[in-house]
Amino acid sequence: MKTEGQDRIYHKTYFDFYPKIGFLDGFENLLEKYLPEKKGKILDVGCGQSRYILSMIDGDYEFLAIDDSEAAFEFLSLRISGEVCRNKIDCISHPFHPDMIKNEVFNGVVLSNILHFYNYQDATEVVDAIKKSLIKDSVVYVCVHSDEHPGNKLKRTQFKHFFSKKEIKDLFPESEFEYMYEESVNEDMSEREVAFALFYCSKQKENRIEITDEQKETYIRQRKTQHIVVVKRR
Ligand SMILES: C[S@@+](CC[C@H](N)C(=O)[O-])C[C@H]1O[C@@H](n2cnc3c(N)ncnc32)[C@H](O)[C@@H]1O
Repeated sequence: MKTEGQDRIYHKTYFDFYPKIGFLDGFENLLEKYLPEKKGKILDVGCGQSRYILSMIDGDYEFLAIDDSEAAFEFLSLRISGEVCRNKIDCISHPFHPDMIKNEVFNGVVLSNILHFYNYQDATEVVDAIKKSLIKDSVVYVCVHSDEHPGNKLKRTQFKHFFSKKEIKDLFPESEFEYMYEESVNEDMSEREVAFALFYCSKQKENRIEITDEQKETYIRQRKTQHIVVVKRR
C-alpha cells in the first residue's frame, strides 16, 4: 500500500514527466466517442491523472471525480484553471462509497484502471451501485488488468484482481448492456512508458523510498495486458 508521501511523489513525478503541454496528445476518449449526446453528467471513479475529464473539459459536461488521493486533485488543479475546475468538477478525495452517488444520474462513467484494485466481490458491489445511477443510453468505459497479466502469477505487495472476459460480461451482462467496443490488449509497454517507469524509480530513490532491483525489473518489464470495453445501458 502507498503512503500519502509516496502517493504525492508519484503524482508529482507523473506531472513532471507528462507536463500540461502535450498531455493529451494521441489520447483517444472512447467514452465520449460512444456517448450518444455529447453532454451530461460524467462520473470518473479513481480519476487519477484525469485524462478523460481533461479531454472533455471544454464540452457541455459536468463531472463528479472521485479519488482517494488528495495529490491527484492537487495536480489536476495545476492542469486547468481554478475557476473551470470549481465550476465543472465536483471532486471527492475519499475511497469510493455508494452513498457518494446516491440519487445521482450519470450519462457517462469512467472506470479506468480502478476495478482491479478491488477483489471481485467488491468490484461487483461498486458496479452494482453505479448501475443504479445509469439511465437508458448511459455509457460506461471500463479498462482493467486482464488475467493474462504477468503479475497474475507473482506474489505482489499491492493486491490486484486480474479479470477474465467472462467476469466483465458478468459485471455488465448483455441483457442489460450493449457492447459498443471490446478490446483485449497484450503488448509491451511503449518506450515512453518504460522511460516513465525508470524516471519514477529514480525519484523513489531520491526520496529514499526503498526499491529493490527485483521490484525495479518487474516494474519496467511489465506488459500491458488489459480488457477494455465500452458498454451502453439498454
Ligand atoms: C492506476 S490509477 C488510474 C488513474 C486513471 N483512472 C487512469 O486510468 O489513468 C488508480 C487511481 O485510483 C485511485 N483509487 C484507488 N483505490 C480507490 C478507491 N477505493 N476509491 C477511489 N479512488 C481509488 C488511486 O488513488 C489512483 O489515482
